Amino acid sequence: GTTGKQAFRAGIIHLLDDPGHDIRPIPTTVDYFADGVLVVENGHVAAIGPADEMLANLPDDCELLEFPGQLIIPGMIDTHIHYPQTDMIAAYGEQLLQWLETYTFPTERQFSDPQHAREVTEFFLDELLRNGTTTACVFGTVHPESVEAFFAAAESRNLRMIAGKVMMDRNCPEYLRDTPESGYRESKALIEKWHGRGRLSYAVTPRFAPTSTPEQLAKAGQLLEEFPDVYLHTHVAENRAEVAWVHELFPDTRSYLDVYHQHGLLKPRSVLAHCIHLDEADRQCMAESGAAASFCPTSNLFIGSGLFDLMAMHGHGIRVGMGTDVGGGSSFSLLQTANEAYKVGQLRGDKLSPFQLLYLATLGGAKALYLDDKIGNFTPGKEADFVLLNPQATPLLERRSQHCQDIAELLFVLMMLGDDRVVSKVWIMGEAATS
Ligand code: GUN
Ligand code: ZN
Repeated sequence: GTTGKQAFRAGIIHLLDDPGHDIRPIPTTVDYFADGVLVVENGHVAAIGPADEMLANLPDDCELLEFPGQLIIPGMIDTHIHYPQTDMIAAYGEQLLQWLETYTFPTERQFSDPQHAREVTEFFLDELLRNGTTTACVFGTVHPESVEAFFAAAESRNLRMIAGKVMMDRNCPEYLRDTPESGYRESKALIEKWHGRGRLSYAVTPRFAPTSTPEQLAKAGQLLEEFPDVYLHTHVAENRAEVAWVHELFPDTRSYLDVYHQHGLLKPRSVLAHCIHLDEADRQCMAESGAAASFCPTSNLFIGSGLFDLMAMHGHGIRVGMGTDVGGGSSFSLLQTANEAYKVGQLRGDKLSPFQLLYLATLGGAKALYLDDKIGNFTPGKEADFVLLNPQATPLLERRSQHCQDIAELLFVLMMLGDDRVVSKVWIMGEAATS
């Protein structure tokens, strides 16, 4: 229950800080218990430690739940995903700009219907939880109804979620356009209704520079000034044709990123998906602004966008989280996203360690979203969103995991071979999620 104390016994791993890029993590950044206990009280982490010590000191009123052979990790954090694109995941044959025209815009049109929005939202949240994702930063569509439906469902499940209504007033079908005025007004009404309500936060969401006029980008900047703790969520420098188009549309601006900078859109709580085709001045600008990058490797490979440079981003001290970018991304699973991130690293000549990958999916994502005071690891006092992984979930995993020498190898194997099948249970603020 939410008020009583519960103790969860299993293997437990979480990150206390960025473990760095070596297979041997920076000391004190990885907290691992081969046989551990996590104590939860009133929906928050009360204590964590090795089972032998913890069990000797458990209070009498504490219920003990044991999961031998399984591994508890913090709830995973998807820093960039589109819930309305659920029904067009795995769309064939196009890169970004044609993919948007061919598949995305017609799919998003349907969200003018609130009943459709509610139905897709429920499926989407079930799917996130089945995959062990407990927090996400989510695009709606241009229709405010899409975000109403999303927040109402997230609230009833007590999920920590960030979402926003898309703003777009040019270079898209008429049926998906707002205006600088209506986009401002509708976004403001959603902020006033939902931002800071329970575990929900609002993100001002201009789709990307090509679909907003300078007037609309200025309105987005005005919202950030009026509501300084809301998020800004958009895309940047994903695809080469897109970058060239932004240079045509904004000929006086130094770079694609600079379009956002010029309109006051880069600040702490700005979340920029992709960040592939950036230069050093862009990275400097991101670092100084406090904006975060969402690394979306399944999408970047699936729609053929390019290879994210994690080392360069971390070299500048930029906050980075992982995103699935469904429906551009081809999986809801952040384990599979870690798998693809590793392969992007291989193509770049960088080794992304299993600890770094787990960090990106948990505490790194929390830091990117400025939520690391609330989620991302099991520091006492944080909200108890956590996931149980079963290393025996498939015949191949059962066989391969027997040969793992240490937790680094087991984590790596779980990421390379695992997906929703290894997620055996999920808890939201200490309550078992029912999906
Ligand atoms: N750029 C503008 N819109 C989109 C979108 O819906 N998905 C992705 N991946 N990139 C975009
Ligand atoms: Zn996206």
